[in-house]
Formats: sequence, C-alpha cells, structure tokens
Amino acid sequence: MDSRAFAETIEKQVAEFCKNLDANLPAYSFIPLTTDEMRVKVMQSRLFNEIRAGEIFGGWLKSTPELDVKKTLAEATHEEYQHAGYLEEALRSKDATPHDYKPLPAQMAMFNSFEGLTDTVERIAAFPMAGEGVADYLIAKSLKAGTVPRWVTDPYKRIHEDEEEHGNYPFEILVKYATTAEKQERASRAVAMSLALRRAYFDNLDRWVFEGKSY
Ligand SMILES: [Fe+2]
Ligand SMILES: [Fe+2]
Repeated sequence: MDSRAFAETIEKQVAEFCKNLDANLPAYSFIPLTTDEMRVKVMQSRLFNEIRAGEIFGGWLKSTPELDVKKTLAEATHEEYQHAGYLEEALRSKDATPHDYKPLPAQMAMFNSFEGLTDTVERIAAFPMAGEGVADYLIAKSLKAGTVPRWVTDPYKRIHEDEEEHGNYPFEILVKYATTAEKQERASRAVAMSLALRRAYFDNLDRWVFEGKSY
C-alpha cells in the first residue's frame, strides 16, 4: 500500500476508537467527574503519563537513525517535562502532592510496551499518533465541555496548544517512512496494541476513581 494511504488507514482506526469513547466518556477526560478529589486523582495519573512520555521519547533517541525523527523526539522529550510542570503547578494549587501516585497496572503495561518497540514507524504510529491522538482528542473535548473547572482546563489549554503546534507530524513521518509492507504490518499491530492497552488503562482509571478500587 502507498504510504499515504497507509497513514490514512491508521488515522481512521484512531478516529474510530475516539468516536467509540463519546457514548461513555472515561474519567480520564475529566468531563464526568463531579469533585476535585476525583479530578486530582485523574490529574496525578496524567502527570505520571507526561513523565513517562518524556522517558519513552528520550529513550528512543539512540536507536532512531533518522535525523529528522531524532530532532522531533528530542523536542517532544523536553515538551513533556514542560507539561509535567503545568500539571504539578495545578495540583499544588489544590494542595495535592503531585507525585503521590501509584501507576495503574494497564498504565504501566502501556508505557512498558511503548518502550519495547524497536522500529521508528511502529513507535510513531503506536504512541505519538495513536496514544497522543486519543489523549488530545479528549483534551479538546474537555476544553469545549464548559463544565470542567478552570484549574483543570488552564494547564490543558497550554498542553493542547503545544500539541496543535506540531500539527500532524506523526502522519508525515508515516508518509515518509512507512514504505514497505513489512513496516506497515508491524505498525498496524503496534497501533492495535496501543489502543487495546489504552482502553485497559481507561478502565483501570475509571474503577479507581469511580469505585475506589485499589490496585
Ligand atoms: Fe506530547
Ligand atoms: Fe504531554
């Protein structure tokens, strides 16, 4: 398949996953939450994600031969720690201890599996495109909802601006490098893995936040 057509199929797969979330928005989106206690928990969980995202992107640098992708990853690494800073600040404004948080099982699995991916195309498809694609879809929704308090939306407005600024770089990387059937096949499987683990993470987070389940 032509690499642009391939990138479009991945984009469609991610968009479908996002649409399916609409009927029952996860706690992760902040929209169904009713107390600041719940919002603090979700933000702590998402602060962990910013930290891990930076570690993943930075960890991929040495094994990324393509200079343009290396530069993008290096920038993304720095950006994730800026995001972490915004969330730390918001949590402190609520007298919460930012890193007083234990990662949920599926959340650990999700990041550990990103770390295990070895090829540029599968990495970019699985994490920046599928993973961050879903995250940013839900951020945009929470900013538009009008019911999420300012202390939550303020830092996410800044995060959303950053995500919008780099446009659709994962798509362009796929167009440029997903040029063989083998690369495309690996990338689609990595995307399916990413979305399955994200679904499991959202479920873990829902049960912790709504039902108080401890892991
Ligand atoms: Fe990011
Ligand atoms: Fe981020």
